[in-house]
Amino acid sequence: MIVEDRAINASLSLKNPKPLTKENASALQIWGKVPLRGHVNISGAKNSALAIMAGTLLCGEDCRIRNLPNLVDIARMSQVLSALGVKLNRQNNTLDIDSSHIGHSKAPYELVSQLRASFFVIGPLLARLGSARVPLPGGCAIGARPVALHVRGLQAMGADVRIEHGIVHADVKGREGRLKGANIYLDYPSVGATETLMMAATLAQGETIIDNAAQEPEVVDLANFCRAMGAKIRGAGTNTITIVGVPRLHSTDYAIIPDRIEAGTFLIAGAITQSEISLSPVLPDHLTPVIAKLGEVGVRVVVEAPNRLRVIPGALKATDIKTLPYPGFPTDMQAQFMALLTLSEGNSVITETVFENRLRHVAELSRMGADIRVKGQNAIVRGVPFLSGAPVMATDLRASAALVLAGLAAEGMTIVKGLHHLDRGYEDLETKLQNLGAKLERVQLQEDSEEDDPKQTANPVLS
Ligand code: EPZ
Repeated sequence: MIVEDRAINASLSLKNPKPLTKENASALQIWGKVPLRGHVNISGAKNSALAIMAGTLLCGEDCRIRNLPNLVDIARMSQVLSALGVKLNRQNNTLDIDSSHIGHSKAPYELVSQLRASFFVIGPLLARLGSARVPLPGGCAIGARPVALHVRGLQAMGADVRIEHGIVHADVKGREGRLKGANIYLDYPSVGATETLMMAATLAQGETIIDNAAQEPEVVDLANFCRAMGAKIRGAGTNTITIVGVPRLHSTDYAIIPDRIEAGTFLIAGAITQSEISLSPVLPDHLTPVIAKLGEVGVRVVVEAPNRLRVIPGALKATDIKTLPYPGFPTDMQAQFMALLTLSEGNSVITETVFENRLRHVAELSRMGADIRVKGQNAIVRGVPFLSGAPVMATDLRASAALVLAGLAAEGMTIVKGLHHLDRGYEDLETKLQNLGAKLERVQLQEDSEEDDPKQTANPVLS
């Protein structure tokens, strides 16, 4: 028996996110086939916010970060920073961060193990304090997620890096205790490695060039934040970034860009429910590959104003998707787009090239009547006339969003479990959808309902 759950929201308070237990496990109950209408506000970008919060460690003064989304991941990064001695004061979507008195350079295992992105503190700690002790983040639901590119780059900048008992020990060699500029070629344009090395290089002696760098908008946002603190960075957003180190950085007041992945998710919410909705603030350029693919499917996206988009639905046609580093099609939109293609006329091939284990939502979409076959990194999606509501289990952040989208389009009721994944990366998704007219609610799960996925009851690693 499922009961109403106002208590759940309270228990998921974002100040100190509770480890997931059966007691606070919740699910989303969705009645499908309800058209959406109106406008939705897009929150600040999770993946910018996490890197920028780590970046405040570079500066010995206090910084103000605006447009910060209210997410479990942000709360976890706040816990990591506060464990390092950083003072944080949050008012709604504004966070004052004072890292003038960071006590030590050791990030606690129990926190880092819950949030991969907290590994990004290694660059700023090493550059500012000359040493860092950060647990290896380990793999997650979507892949092994190694950090060799981060480590190799720091070694090229003169750091002595060794891994002992699962902890990365990094120390700057030499008496000056400063990293040295270096020419670094990345074997893969890793977002995290580019961000770690770019941050470390801001306080290094001399010039650093990062070749084959990641070009994601979140990398550019981090570079702009560092420049606002006085860093000398050129070429962010291209595959070659040049950083000339400076002795110290100063405080700043910075607003984070809108979340292009949340925006992309809402574009698909409109398309999959055949609804015309608008969304802002967004930076349309950040969504070029997503908008282009929606066009191929038969969905028009109109730029109504510099930072406002309107989605105009249409009869859905099949198309092929291949995920790639930016400006290619984002892997963080792959699952949501797959949900859309399950209802598109014809056969689509989706190729996931960025993460080796990011097709786990296929089984859950198939539960809802989708026709998808997986061959290696390819998923062949044969469009079906309709999906039917079913109880499904989210396996990671973007998979959870895809299941919610499929539930909005399905006949009958869908119950999406494993919402701790969703809460990591979507601010108030159900309220935003309810305001667009969707019929859904968060409910508390009874004891047994999580049995079919024991992993869900353990304390999951948040990627
Ligand atoms: C960032 O992860 C994002 N996370 C991910 O978003 C996103 O999917 C990913 O970039 C790609 O766009 C944050 O920004 C917090 P990568 P990151 O290093 O930095 C391999 C979401 O849904 N690799 O670019 O960890 C790696 O295994 C999340 O919001 C190495 O081999 O991604 C992967 O296959 C999920 N060695 C590929 O590169 C390394 O040292 C891309 O990883 C580093 C990475």
